[in-house]
Amino acid sequence: MNDKENKTNNENMNSQPENSNKMEEIISLAKRRGFIFQGSEIYGGLAGTWDYGPLGVILKNRVKNLWWQNFIEKRNDIYGLDAAILMNSKIWEASGHVSGFNDPLVEDLKTKKRYRADHLLEDAGYEVAGKTSEEMDALIKENKILSPDGNELSQVKKFNMMFKTEIGVSGTGDSVSYLRPETAGGIFVNYKNVLDSMHPKMPFGIGQIGKAFRNEIAPRDFIFRTREFEQMEIEYFIHPDNWEVEFEKWVESLREFNNLVGLRKEDVFEVEVSDEDRAHYSKRTIDFEFNYPFGQKELYGLAYRTNYDLSKHSEASNQKLEYFNDQTGERFIPHVIEPSIGVDRLILAILTTAYSKDNVGGEERTVLKLSPEIAPYQIAVFPLLKNKEILVNKAKEVFESLNQENWRVTFDDNGNIGKRYRRQDEIGTPFCVTVDFETIETEKDGENNPLLNTVTIRNRDTGEQDRIQISELKNYFKEKIN
Ligand code: GAP
Repeated sequence: MNDKENKTNNENMNSQPENSNKMEEIISLAKRRGFIFQGSEIYGGLAGTWDYGPLGVILKNRVKNLWWQNFIEKRNDIYGLDAAILMNSKIWEASGHVSGFNDPLVEDLKTKKRYRADHLLEDAGYEVAGKTSEEMDALIKENKILSPDGNELSQVKKFNMMFKTEIGVSGTGDSVSYLRPETAGGIFVNYKNVLDSMHPKMPFGIGQIGKAFRNEIAPRDFIFRTREFEQMEIEYFIHPDNWEVEFEKWVESLREFNNLVGLRKEDVFEVEVSDEDRAHYSKRTIDFEFNYPFGQKELYGLAYRTNYDLSKHSEASNQKLEYFNDQTGERFIPHVIEPSIGVDRLILAILTTAYSKDNVGGEERTVLKLSPEIAPYQIAVFPLLKNKEILVNKAKEVFESLNQENWRVTFDDNGNIGKRYRRQDEIGTPFCVTVDFETIETEKDGENNPLLNTVTIRNRDTGEQDRIQISELKNYFKEKIN
């Protein structure tokens, strides 16, 4: 049932990386500068898990905040939710995940290494769109496809991707639960609670951000395909007659969101998912694919899920999950449009877009061109020299005063000024403020020194510097950042 993952007909369209080293360089920068670390690293790691470090967590929170503000806070028609990760296992039976959330697994008969059959077939140049496990098995046999180590492969098996766990102490097996494989489940089972407590008028949505877990056979490509990841999902409840109009509105809203987080239009591709590739519950799906360094791959999806989920949950729980329109007297089970965004894939798209190399003042540098809205720090404040108390004190004063505003400010006095600029460029800080000797100079012209109490502001993208009065700094940044 992990249908969209099996759908790959378009994924390789643009798969020639513009820079084959770019991915390695991004991973290296992410580690070196405290964005993203390998999970459980000091114990040799745990495949498919990554930890967000001090700067990564700020970036991630900023992106999640933008989504939350844009779709939940600013809109009157969408409500927020934070449902439990552990849920009654009947939910996943009703939704079809227990029986059908499978990926096609094959094993190298010699090394016992496991692979996704669809990935091996694609790598060998075969079309797997819409193929069943049995059909993939036949393709492997007919064409004598071998494992990457050159050995024979086992029969294709269906591998359920949910992580199973037990609740409580009984150990009898009747207390089985699952780590949720999508946040959507928590939304569907709270539909009635939101309806009864908030009395929304249709159309309305429920959105949440949270962790999801999938026991991926082959996690790969850094934070692109992991076993633990985050989703930002909305179920938007509609009358079925309006689904086409509502779907188009969502396409437009998602385009605006891509722009808000700084993705370039030319890097995002809207791919209509074909009938044979769509999940069984979906009548229409558009995948928003992104031009990652390892090729064009799914960033997130927009699906018209009909009333499949609410109907299944209504049947299995014996609860009425209808909507009553008091204007028309109509009762019906609402249909849903679902924009489902993977946070980590979006972070990787943002890092890919922002990562660049250029030349400033004749020197090559690496720079993350993040917008001030999502950059971990918006302003860095430096004293020109670390060992001149008078400069350090003045710089601390400037830092404190900017920090009182709602900006993310950092103080940096490590190494020489050139090194500090390089460091701030690499973490994407748009502005660096330097307190230098002119800032405090009174010897020549005393209080009449026109540069007294001025600082330099260096622009990350152009390398150009403005010199302005400290008293004007807040106005300057209000214009540039807010
Ligand atoms: N509720 C619908 C749903 O979960 P999906 O296409 O299976 O649909 C939605 O997942 C999004 O979640 C994907 O487009 C992707 O952004 C993200 N996602 C899915 N599996 C992932 C994984 N193993 N690692 C990272 N992100 C993943």
